[in-house]
Amino acid sequence: MLILGLESSCDETAAAVVRDGRFVLSNVIASQHDLHAEYGGVVPEIASRAHVERVLPVVRKAVAEAGLTLKDIEAVAVGHRPGLIGSLLVGVAAAKGLAWSLGVPLVGVDHVQAHLYSGLLETRHAGGSGVPLPRLAPDPLPEGVGVFPALGLVVSGGHTAMFRCDDPLRVTRLGSTIDDAIGEAYDKVAALLGLGHPGGPRVDALAQRGDERAHEFPKSRLSPESLDFSFSGLKTAVLYKVRGYPGMENPPPPEPPDEKGKADIAASFQRAAVGVIVLKLERALMRLRQEGIRAASLLVGGGVSANSRLRIDLARFADDYRLKLVVPPMEYCMDNAAMIAGLGWERLRAGQHDDLTLAAEPMTAV
Ligand code: KG4
Ligand code: ZN
Repeated sequence: MLILGLESSCDETAAAVVRDGRFVLSNVIASQHDLHAEYGGVVPEIASRAHVERVLPVVRKAVAEAGLTLKDIEAVAVGHRPGLIGSLLVGVAAAKGLAWSLGVPLVGVDHVQAHLYSGLLETRHAGGSGVPLPRLAPDPLPEGVGVFPALGLVVSGGHTAMFRCDDPLRVTRLGSTIDDAIGEAYDKVAALLGLGHPGGPRVDALAQRGDERAHEFPKSRLSPESLDFSFSGLKTAVLYKVRGYPGMENPPPPEPPDEKGKADIAASFQRAAVGVIVLKLERALMRLRQEGIRAASLLVGGGVSANSRLRIDLARFADDYRLKLVVPPMEYCMDNAAMIAGLGWERLRAGQHDDLTLAAEPMTAV
């Protein structure tokens, strides 16, 4: 089945065509980073206006790059929650119009849940040649055998949470951030260091040149059993390191850090941020084991899963606990519509779909 996916929850307008929930034929992402850069963060009104301008050209491009025409599309999936409401509305309205005019099913998908699915996508069968691809066997996850039950981790600009995943559709949250998301902390640290927006990749790059032991930043464990995260204390610790403590006169506020100083701060921040993720994953794995569930894999998704240090540490963690590590290739770490189409297919084949009353919703349901 050929599914067109649409994604517009934040500042990327994306469309993708995915065959049988797994094989990505096209994956088009129009980023708005330039539009928001001067504000140091995403401005909701600017984002929704840009989605309106881009959504149809992006859809046309995705269909063309798959070597198809709109008439070939058999269902439309859209990320309808969570996100900026004005942004979501654009994707949802476009998806409804497309599904209705093509006479095909419409299916709404939870963006956070879709991030967990992104590591199961395959690009091997990418289209673009215009040559129809052979239909594939109905089993969507031939290599996915042994993936579930899984421990899931979503680390992005809006979300930081762990999940128990019984299958792609049965996902239960184990814990999540009580304040900032990890990506938000990366973006704020980048702003403090004058690195610009989006900050995550820039902090990641700068950290490669720094000494991660230069500063001992706090890792927030919360209570001994807690599976939740907190990044606001870490962010504040970096703020004080860069600007000095409020009201501090003796000793005087520090000089602004030079390039080496910034790299040391970035590396030390990254060690704490990534360290706490691994620590909480260990707790979650133990919790699952206490409940008699032996996770077969660790499913990771979200923009911060592109982080080089996190990927190394997750590989070590998975190795230590004999988990299959399922991390998306870079193009599916960030917000994309291929993961939306993929999970949409899972919903459709489970007999679920939506109608034109599908609503955009600001909050996740997982
Ligand atoms: O999943 P995503 O594209 O959007 C949300 O759903 O939030 O994630 C974007 C976030 C941003 O905060 C960005 O700074 C962060 O992912 N990010 C990174 C890296 N690449 C993107 N954070 C750390 N290291 C990276 N390499
Ligand atoms: Zn996301």
